[in-house]
Amino acid sequence: MTFFEVSDLHSYYGASHILFGISLKIEEGTLVCLLGRNGAGKSTTLQSIMGLVAPKKGSIIFKDQEIKTTPPHEKVRLGIGYVPEEREIFPSLTVQENLEMGTRVLQKKSKVRYQWEIKDIWEIFPSLKELKNQKGGYLSGGEQQMLTIARTLMTCPDFLLLDEPCEGLAPVVVKSLGRMIVEICNSGCTILMAEQNIKFAMTISEYGYVIDKGTIQHQGSVSELKENENIRKYLTVSAA
Ligand SMILES: Nc1ncnc2c1ncn2[C@@H]1O[C@H](COP(=O)(O)OP(=O)(O)OP(=O)(O)O)[C@@H](O)[C@H]1O
Ligand SMILES: [Mg+2]
Repeated sequence: MTFFEVSDLHSYYGASHILFGISLKIEEGTLVCLLGRNGAGKSTTLQSIMGLVAPKKGSIIFKDQEIKTTPPHEKVRLGIGYVPEEREIFPSLTVQENLEMGTRVLQKKSKVRYQWEIKDIWEIFPSLKELKNQKGGYLSGGEQQMLTIARTLMTCPDFLLLDEPCEGLAPVVVKSLGRMIVEICNSGCTILMAEQNIKFAMTISEYGYVIDKGTIQHQGSVSELKENENIRKYLTVSAA
């Protein structure tokens, strides 16, 4: 079975050609990163996969099924979760209510691999449990990011797209969020994570793609990429 494969994807914003034939293959159960600096095309790739940007050419296969033209809400039902770069929480709802909103999309979902429940979320994100009655709008940046990921987990994805989950977070928060992302992958959820923070991404992923100017420049296991001096020019090296 092909779990997830993108072939020769081309996307545009109006007349601007942004993605030039992106191809990615992701094995079930792995954590793969998409590395690239500002404007490289990471978010456009994730949005094209999700259908928020309509690709003009190429194919997207998820579990042997062509999903290029499947609408985003239908992709959620098929088991794809998407955590955008902007943290999307409901500020006036509590942490627990935010999580309950996540389960609503499940009502029409037929077959679920693993039914995430709020108690599972508290296990992975203990700090959210302590804040369960706090309003979303009062959470710190790191807590809001955890809540956004947690709410997406409540839709029971088999495949999770994370767009720069660590952006703007302090190094200590990045470290603990990294452990949580690995735990989510270990629970059986395949992950594609867009990142600029190469050190962080390479610490937790197994395989990586390097994107620049809407084209995949390199791909390989993280240990291969670490050895490859040529990829540095496509990346911003951060201290975190
Ligand atoms: N809505 C839009 N309309 C027009 N051009 C856009 C739009 N969004 C992004 N772009 C352009 O598409 C290119 C790729 O942007 P994208 O957001 O995918 O990059 P990115 O790798 O996610 O960068 P960042 O790390 O800053 O999030 C950039 O040149 C950007 O200016
Ligand atoms: Mg982006």
